[in-house]
Amino acid sequence: MGLKTNTGSIRHFLQFKDFSREEYDYLFARTRWIKDQFKSYRQYWPLSDRSLVMIFEKASTRTRLSFEAGIQQLGGSAIYLNTRDSQLGRGEPVEDAAQVISRMSDLVMIRTFEQDIVERFAANSRVPVINGLTNEYHPCQIMADIYTFIEHRGPIQGKTVAWIGDSNNMCNTWLQAAEVLDFRVHVSTPPGYEIEPERVGLVGTDHFQQFADPMEAARGADIVTTDVWTSMGYEAENEERLKDFADWQVDAEMMRVAREDAIFLHCLPAHRGEEVTAEVIDGPQSVVWDEAENRLHTQKALMEYLVLGRIQTES
Ligand code: CP
Ligand code: NVA
Repeated sequence: MGLKTNTGSIRHFLQFKDFSREEYDYLFARTRWIKDQFKSYRQYWPLSDRSLVMIFEKASTRTRLSFEAGIQQLGGSAIYLNTRDSQLGRGEPVEDAAQVISRMSDLVMIRTFEQDIVERFAANSRVPVINGLTNEYHPCQIMADIYTFIEHRGPIQGKTVAWIGDSNNMCNTWLQAAEVLDFRVHVSTPPGYEIEPERVGLVGTDHFQQFADPMEAARGADIVTTDVWTSMGYEAENEERLKDFADWQVDAEMMRVAREDAIFLHCLPAHRGEEVTAEVIDGPQSVVWDEAENRLHTQKALMEYLVLGRIQTES
């Protein structure tokens, strides 16, 4: 038997818009089935003998855990690389790393800085590549967030998401998701931190609206969500951001103007007392622990899809 080669066309998951609405429908249905197997202690090993390489250039708890546990639960194994103790941190070109890593594995997940790095890696990879967070996007997280909404409230089409805070990787990915899945994002950022719709690949203006006042963004929303004021890689701006974002905190008053059945989401890690109050994140509308758990289930569906393609889900 020779070395494994990928003869079919490879799919990557680098941005939310890499998949169609129909593919997300499939992935969410598949997630439900895979989660149900897991909860029923039924062994499901479609990726036995397959290996996932996980490359981390930034810190992580949930992403590492959910990918590593996820591939193991599907019968495969994970290899962890970081920039501190691999040649990646010593200037080896990303194109060369992609050639080598993808000859020894079946799937690669990368958490890094610029989106350009994952795009260049994917262009030189023989196996599917997953974006595990870049400065620009966090598509795996938004897949879990939307699945969590669907579990709690049903279809997201036509709903309103209020994004309060920084126009960061999470915000950009919500904006892309709104176009793909046909919902709306009401965005409120402090002056100077506005979204850049064209830079984040939006094709139209129908699926978002910007609000100077965060309370107006939250009014009538089905989901209220936020994220840290300072993302990884931007630590030098922390002091300034603490001042600039002070009025963009999700608190009980903001949740009161949202729909009565609105849920609160946060990708975590959270800073209570900064972007969200303890009362909200630890309160009855918050589903952040389900959201974190759903990283595991949605990514198992994603890995299965990228490696094996579509599977007929048993009813
Ligand atoms: N939400 C998320 O990606 O968490 P980690 O940074 O812990 O992976
Ligand atoms: N916007 C945050 C998300 C962390 C999961 C960051 O990039 O640091």
